[in-house]
Order: sequence, then C-alpha cells, then structure tokens
Amino acid sequence: MTSEDWKHYPQTWYAITLDNYLKKGNILSGQLGGLAYVVYRDHAGSLHAMDAFCPHMGAHLQSGKVSESGIVCGLHGCTVEPDRPLSSSTHTPCNLKNRAWFCVARFGLIWLHPPVADGVMPPLPFASLPENNLIWTHATRRIHADWRAMICNGFDIAHMKTVHQREVIGEPQFTVLPENALRMDYQTRVLPKGGWSSRVMQKLSGGRIVLSHTCCGSAICVNSQVGAFNTVGIFALLPQNSPDTPPELRHTQAFAAIAVPKTVKWAKLQLYLARCLYLAFLRKDFDVVEKMRMRLDGVNDVGVRAIAAFQATLPEIDGGTSI
Ligand code: FES
Ligand SMILES: [Fe+2]
Repeated sequence: MTSEDWKHYPQTWYAITLDNYLKKGNILSGQLGGLAYVVYRDHAGSLHAMDAFCPHMGAHLQSGKVSESGIVCGLHGCTVEPDRPLSSSTHTPCNLKNRAWFCVARFGLIWLHPPVADGVMPPLPFASLPENNLIWTHATRRIHADWRAMICNGFDIAHMKTVHQREVIGEPQFTVLPENALRMDYQTRVLPKGGWSSRVMQKLSGGRIVLSHTCCGSAICVNSQVGAFNTVGIFALLPQNSPDTPPELRHTQAFAAIAVPKTVKWAKLQLYLARCLYLAFLRKDFDVVEKMRMRLDGVNDVGVRAIAAFQATLPEIDGGTSI
C-alpha cells in the first residue's frame, strides 16, 4: 500500500464552516476536488448548495443575491436554484437550475457532499450520535499539513507514546460500520511526563482511558471515557489545495466540535475542561504533522494500516464539467 491509494478528495461529507458563520442571506463559495460550489442560507434560515457557475453565461454566483427561490445572478439577473427532485419552479429562460449538492447542519458545523450519480443522499456522518442530548463548543484553525497525515495520526498507535505519553493497553479492535466508516476501539494508560494535560488526565482517569475513534471520510469522531467523564470530539478536515500540490506544502482547515452530555453535573464546566484537554492534545499532533510528506509503504503500525486500507476503498469525487 502506498499513500497514492489514499485519494486527496474522496467522495464524502466535508465540514466547510461553523454553522453560525453563515448568516441568513449570505453565500459561501469554495471547491472540492476541482468542483466549485456555492452554499447559501435563505431568508427563512434553510441551507442550500449547488454548482458555482451560472448556467446562462458562467458568472460565479458568489457575486449574486439570495432571493426567495435561489440566487439572483449578479451578471444578468437570472434566478438560479439547486436542481433537486422536489424543485418547485419551472425552467424558463431566466429561471435556471444548477446541479444541487447535499448540505446539512450537524454538530454546529455545515457539511457538504458533492453530487452523486444516483442522486440519493449518502448516509450522514456520525448519524448515531445523539446530537441534541449533548452541549457543544467549537474551534477552527488552519494547519500547514496534509489532511491525510492528520487523519492517519488519529489512528497511529505508535505515536501515542512519543507524542502523547500514553501507553496502549492490549490490541485495538477495528470495525467497518454500515455507513461506510471505520471505528477503532482501544484503551490507554497515561504515562508521566506529559505536561499539565497528562497530569489532569491521569487524575481523572484513575489510570485507564477507553476510546473509540470513528473515521468517516475526512472527519474523525472520538468518544472518550475518562473515569466518570464521557466526552465526544469531532475533528473535521477541509483540504485547501489542489491535488497536485506537494504534501508538505498543503494546508488544511480543521474544525473541532467538542461535547459532553447535557445531563451531567456542572455540564458547562465539564465542557470547558474537555475543550482544554482536547485542544492541548491536538496541539501536540499539529506540531508533528506540519509539513509532513506522508509515506505508507512498509509501515507496519496496525492503526495506520487499517485507516490507509479503509481510505483506499473510498472513490474519488467525480470530476464534473463545471470547472
Ligand atoms: S451569467 Fe448569470 S444571468 Fe447571465
Ligand atoms: Fe495524536
């Protein structure tokens, strides 16, 4: 297996921004796998997404205005709406349709999925997570690293000792979930010398942390049980460069959504503590993956091999004609 088997833009859900960053009537644009998109929030608060170029003469819809039924193109004033099975308006010369993308808000993040051949919405990321039973906090940061190296890091057993001063107990277990995600279940023990965050974890855990990491495309959901404390951390990665950019020059926008159950005592305090611990943990990872040129051939780590094999099964985003 080589790093080439791991697609730079797999066909999957991507978190593109924090939910509260996109206000009513605003448009956000970007590209995934060479396909340009616009996402907008209508005046009633619903999210929509579609190809970015106006079907009339190709103006970028970023410069348009959100109307009741779509985006009014800035160049000649035609209304362009996502073409979904349930679209209501008729196709007239100045009421146009663009290929729709899938777009949902979950866990305080906006998730986008490129169009698929059969038009059926793919399973949502981490669908079984009881979003409404949890309270959430969020963070975002741009990292000078290839997103693949960051996902790989989340399954790398050997680095747990060198980077996080944790010892893995026993063998991790791997399960491929029906929604096309890979889960790794394992346990760790905190070793001394990990700084303040390790000392806190050692106190809270009583020596043993039970973890599961679930990877869905370019996002990982971490469930951790530290003594009596249960936390959830979703870490979603948005690649920033074209696939021909050398890995060590790539950047990634990282989004974190961290949660604890609503019903626990001092929920807000627990959430604050969980946030501090997760972000301290991640900072150690960022330090070692920045500017990395990932190699997978000959690597024997059981977690790295499992995640690389899983990622190699994901197809690349279909190249469209919109760019
Ligand atoms: S290019 Fe959009 S209406 Fe003409
Ligand atoms: Fe790590």
